Amino acid sequence: MMQTNRLAPSPGAKCTSNRSLNVKINRFSITSPSRIAREPCVAPRATSPSDDNGDNTQPPNRSIPNNSQSDLDDRIMSGEFTDSGSTKEKLTRPIRKMLAKDPLGPGRAVAYQLAQIGQGWRRVAATRMPTATGDIREIVGQPVFIPLYKLYLTYGSVFRLNFYAKNFVVISDPQLAKQVLLTNASKYSKGLLAEILEFVMGTGLIPADGEVWKVRRRAVVPALHKKYISAMVDMFADCALHGATMLGKTADENEMQQQQFLESNSSFYKPKSVEMENFFSRLALDIIGKAVFNYEFDSLTTDDPVIQAVYTTLREAEYRSTYPIPYWNIPFLAALVPRQKQNTAALQVISETLDELIARCKKLVEEEDEEFVEEFLSKADPSILHFLVASGDDITSKQMRDDLMTMLIAGHETTAAVLTWTFYCVSDRPDVVAKLREEVDRVLGDRNPTIEDMHGLKYTSRVIAESMRLYPQPPVLIRRALEDDVLKGYEIKAGSDIFISTWNLHRSPELWDRPDQFDPERFPVDSPMPNEVTEDFKYLPFGGGKRKCVGDQFALFEAIVALAMLVRRFDFEMAPDAPEVGMTTGATIHTTNGLHLVPKRRVIVASSAIANDGDDVAHSNNANGAIINTPTAAAKEMAVLAFTDAQEQNPQN
Ligand code: HEM
Repeated sequence: MMQTNRLAPSPGAKCTSNRSLNVKINRFSITSPSRIAREPCVAPRATSPSDDNGDNTQPPNRSIPNNSQSDLDDRIMSGEFTDSGSTKEKLTRPIRKMLAKDPLGPGRAVAYQLAQIGQGWRRVAATRMPTATGDIREIVGQPVFIPLYKLYLTYGSVFRLNFYAKNFVVISDPQLAKQVLLTNASKYSKGLLAEILEFVMGTGLIPADGEVWKVRRRAVVPALHKKYISAMVDMFADCALHGATMLGKTADENEMQQQQFLESNSSFYKPKSVEMENFFSRLALDIIGKAVFNYEFDSLTTDDPVIQAVYTTLREAEYRSTYPIPYWNIPFLAALVPRQKQNTAALQVISETLDELIARCKKLVEEEDEEFVEEFLSKADPSILHFLVASGDDITSKQMRDDLMTMLIAGHETTAAVLTWTFYCVSDRPDVVAKLREEVDRVLGDRNPTIEDMHGLKYTSRVIAESMRLYPQPPVLIRRALEDDVLKGYEIKAGSDIFISTWNLHRSPELWDRPDQFDPERFPVDSPMPNEVTEDFKYLPFGGGKRKCVGDQFALFEAIVALAMLVRRFDFEMAPDAPEVGMTTGATIHTTNGLHLVPKRRVIVASSAIANDGDDVAHSNNANGAIINTPTAAAKEMAVLAFTDAQEQNPQN
């Protein structure tokens, strides 16, 4: 049995945050040699974290407010921002026109000369990369990928974005993405991303470059071997069952309330909802804590200072990625500003916890004296940390901490976001839920999934794949050119910052049919699972090339297990008073107001029972896949409750 660590438990913080964002960039000016007329952006539906008290007063509205977006579309389309040529030519045009009216002749000759020079300027301008210039305040605090999508639709797959001193090249073309990520990958570093994340990840795998990255990647990748992933799938199932217990409590309370409501003839019944972004954030934290360093956060049921510290640093990383002035680099401001002081304290808590876990693991490895073989896996502690220590990985504690912290962050927010948006996508698609259930019931029945089932749950994996197409986490990949390169004929100077917009690639009307539609069938179950190779870099949920995600299979299986086990056990409905949908960005796409779903225990009817009319008895079976015979509604309900409770108490059934 796996033993997990748990340090310093105590009551503490809750995962909250998220700023509300409106889509608004009305101070841009854009120069573009070529305008591509396309469909205006269709805003995606979206949501956010909050309490599970169901105490919302807003009417349901499942679409993002679109006024400012359509304003922007109109203004871009009207050409208001477009400078389709040379500024010098434009500035001299009135003089030229005036001179052309000279009745005596010399003025007309000068006008002619100017016109010729102007033509040359226009020709040169036509070969320059389209440039959007604007005020950084216009996109700060917004989901940056939305304005980038609008600019892409109008100005094409490569353009430059200028804000005062900052400037970025935005790429939305699969072949250019392939060039930067794969063929010319050695010409690019993590640049800005490394600068933003340095305070929390140090030289961990995500921000690291050069030799450090090479050495660390070589050490970490073998830790995620097949036996490890297989053990993790079992752990995902245990955690998902624990999550189901939490959801079951809300479902049962609602059930009781509804009963009382029916009996009392009251005119008001409001079911409790669960804020699913918060729920998945906690589920994913519990999972990644065990997977990476065998730490039992148990954040689904408790809060402790370590959890609070993790969220403080995550929010700080997001804040720093959008705040224009890096004041935190000025020592006296870092020491004075409360949020920076809080962040420093949080980092201290995490550092101490990790140091303690590393020390404990080293001791365990010494004591167990197990031979280190390929696909090494400790039964007592199958974590990545244990693998690294047992492998004799000779690194400083600081580097070990950086790697662990990197994986904790990389594997937590991303998976939580994927699950949140997947549930959002299926929440109004009973057709998709029906297909999911058909597959889950057929492949799993009432047992826990194993690694072998991952290939059988084909439709479930396509649902996740399609959700990651619509909501890629992260929506933008960041690079910096280390040397000069040429992208689509445009010169890229060393030092240029590049944004590869995965959001644009995944929603491009040129690359996908009905790009904004959630359609898992676009990835047929009898074709290979889509990835960057099968889709030739138009689909990059886990990146591509040498910096591709090391946890792709881990993450995919985690999402499949959670989705399969929860849709089998619950019906989910959008809360009747769910607040308006919205999106915000940090490293991943968050909701603005939470995804408030009402869980209801699913009634599972065994097919044999339907044919078996007659007696009023419910047969529930908690062992090995037998389900229920349920001739009457009341018996049916009782049997389902018994079945689900038995499952939660004894996950091996
Ligand atoms: C659904 C969940 C996940 C998604 C969508 C995701 C996505 C990504 C993406 C897009 C990249 C490439 C970033 C870039 O090129 O700039 C990446 C890198 C990375 N991911 Fe994931 N990831 C997920 C889960 C995980 C998990 C569970 C782990 C660890 C157990 C992990 C560890 C990493 C690491 C270490 C890197 C850096 C690899 C390198 O630079 O060599 N990720 N991830």
